[in-house]
Amino acid sequence: MNITLSCLLLLFFSTATIVTATDHIVGANRGWNPGINYTLWTANHTFYVGDFISFRYQKTQYNVFQVNQTGYDNCTTEGATGNWTSGKDFILLADSKRYYFICGNGQCFNGMKVSVLVHPLLSPPLAPLSSSSIMVVPSFMAYCLVSSTAFIRFFRDRI
Ligand SMILES: *[C@@H]1O[C@H](CO)[C@@H](O)[C@H](O)[C@H]1NC(C)=O
Ligand SMILES: *[C@@H]1O[C@H](CO)[C@@H](O)[C@H](O)[C@H]1NC(C)=O
Ligand SMILES: *[C@@H]1O[C@H](CO)[C@@H](O)[C@H](O)[C@H]1NC(C)=O
Ligand SMILES: *[C@@H]1O[C@H](CO)[C@@H](O)[C@H](O)[C@H]1NC(C)=O
Ligand SMILES: *[C@@H]1O[C@H](CO)[C@@H](O)[C@H](O)[C@H]1NC(C)=O
Repeated sequence: MNITLSCLLLLFFSTATIVTATDHIVGANRGWNPGINYTLWTANHTFYVGDFISFRYQKTQYNVFQVNQTGYDNCTTEGATGNWTSGKDFILLADSKRYYFICGNGQCFNGMKVSVLVHPLLSPPLAPLSSSSIMVVPSFMAYCLVSSTAFIRFFRDRI
């Protein structure tokens, strides 16, 4: 691949990584409350690794539990891997997998359950960031810097 194009692509992807992290507010302005179909809400969102999901609710009434599929299907918090109670909880979606959240006080049966599928950040050919590519990126960036300086000098010398 052309080196300038590679440099541009690298710049694009490193910038994209920084700017695309999104906070998905569950239920938007309706928040985390009974009687809302959160399946409809999720259909409007695409979740990527590094995004946040946030729950906003009356902390005296509701809460959030992270459960597995059984817990989601059956509204049980047994074996929950996380719980939040602040009323304004930000949860990092760190892995590319399906997450399940429910309300733990019985309101799960009134619809307070949401399941989101988190997609990997990069397209498949770039996705598995091996230790060797972690080494390559900084040195390649350095190379881009040096070659763009050389590139600028090349033109300046010709004006
Ligand atoms: C929520 O909406 C989806 C899509 O229309 C539907 O399949 C599902 O049955 C609804 N869930 C409830 C609890 O009404
Ligand atoms: C989905 O997004 C559209 C456009 O932003 C909005 O009008 C609609 O209310 C949203 N639906 C849900 C269920 O959030
Ligand atoms: C979940 O509920 C289903 C019926 O809705 C039941 O067959 C199943 O045994 C339950 N699973 C657990 C782990 O409680
Ligand atoms: C979910 O966790 C419960 C409790 O630890 C366990 O019994 C169940 O098999 C798990 N279900 C799945 C789908 O992993
Ligand atoms: C909530 O999570 C904490 C650890 O963060 C744990 O000690 C506690 O038992 C959990 N509560 C419930 C009700 O699962």
